[in-house]
Amino acid sequence: SWTTDNVIEEQVAAIRELVGDKRAICGLSGGVDSAVAAALVQKAIGSQLTCVYVDHGLMRKGETEQVEKDFVAATGVQLKVVDAEERFLAALAGVSDPEEKRKIIGREFIRVFEQAQAEIIADEGPAVEFLVQGTLYPDVVESGGGTGAANIKSHHNVGGLPEDLEFKLVEPLRQLFKDEVRMVGQELGLPEEIVQRQPFPGPGLGIRIVGEVTKERLDLLREADAIAREELTAAGLDRDIWQCPVVLLADVRSVGVQGDGRTYGHPIVLRPVSSEDAMTADWSRLPYDVLAKISTRITNEVRDVNRVVLDVTSKPPGTIEWE
Ligand code: XMP
Repeated sequence: SWTTDNVIEEQVAAIRELVGDKRAICGLSGGVDSAVAAALVQKAIGSQLTCVYVDHGLMRKGETEQVEKDFVAATGVQLKVVDAEERFLAALAGVSDPEEKRKIIGREFIRVFEQAQAEIIADEGPAVEFLVQGTLYPDVVESGGGTGAANIKSHHNVGGLPEDLEFKLVEPLRQLFKDEVRMVGQELGLPEEIVQRQPFPGPGLGIRIVGEVTKERLDLLREADAIAREELTAAGLDRDIWQCPVVLLADVRSVGVQGDGRTYGHPIVLRPVSSEDAMTADWSRLPYDVLAKISTRITNEVRDVNRVVLDVTSKPPGTIEWE
């Protein structure tokens, strides 16, 4: 019968047999799937696995530290963190168009990730033959694939690496659904904050600033987002909402009054949604007192923000993210 213990035992054995004495690498995104896949492979092959985490500077408050400290503490994994903030900010300078931002972030991400891979491969030791991915069962079904323990398929890499380099994929979560992945992660001792994480877009806060992305704006949005998350968690609402993007309208200003003076600051948008699969969504009817607390704290504590607005649009017509 299905138990998390059985799944872990089975996969650990299958991964050991598959990888042998070779090495594997795994990209960590901060999301649940890659974290659980990495933890499982780490349990199987220990120091033969190296994880790569690209910090693009578009993470929320505490996220990079969560990977650097909590994830490593829980798994003992060998982690290479690449600080690429300056590179990403330079590439994003002057860009306001959402699609252009997404393309730039995607492109830079792949470049940095492949450079890190190449450095790991160039290290002394056995060859790196395996790439770990957190593919789930729904992903497999969607792309018409089959099942089986620790499925593998060959994967040609692009750019930055030798042309003929081939990775074999290790996908230990291929038979699992999201809730099962969470149970396996919990069983492996991953922190609650990683295992129960709500969805967060790969391009990060870069697509939650309407307007140009700058360090100053990111810092401001990080503060506002941290306050919203803190209060939603304190109110016990994390499981009731699917996710709550917090968006900075950097190109909009409105007049306010704070202390004894006129302000001319930016609005922050709260976008709490409920959803089953993110294809459609409804705006969450959050308690007014929680909204009031978030609004008061953000306008009091975040410089340059003098207004908090609530997005009451379902999807469709609005997408969950603003960009
Ligand atoms: P939208 O805005 O399209 O978002 O309604 C649907 C879900 O997808 C997430 N999202 C992304 N996730 N990379 C990701 O990994 C992306 O580029 C991306 N864009 C949106 C979004 O947070 C929501 O959960």
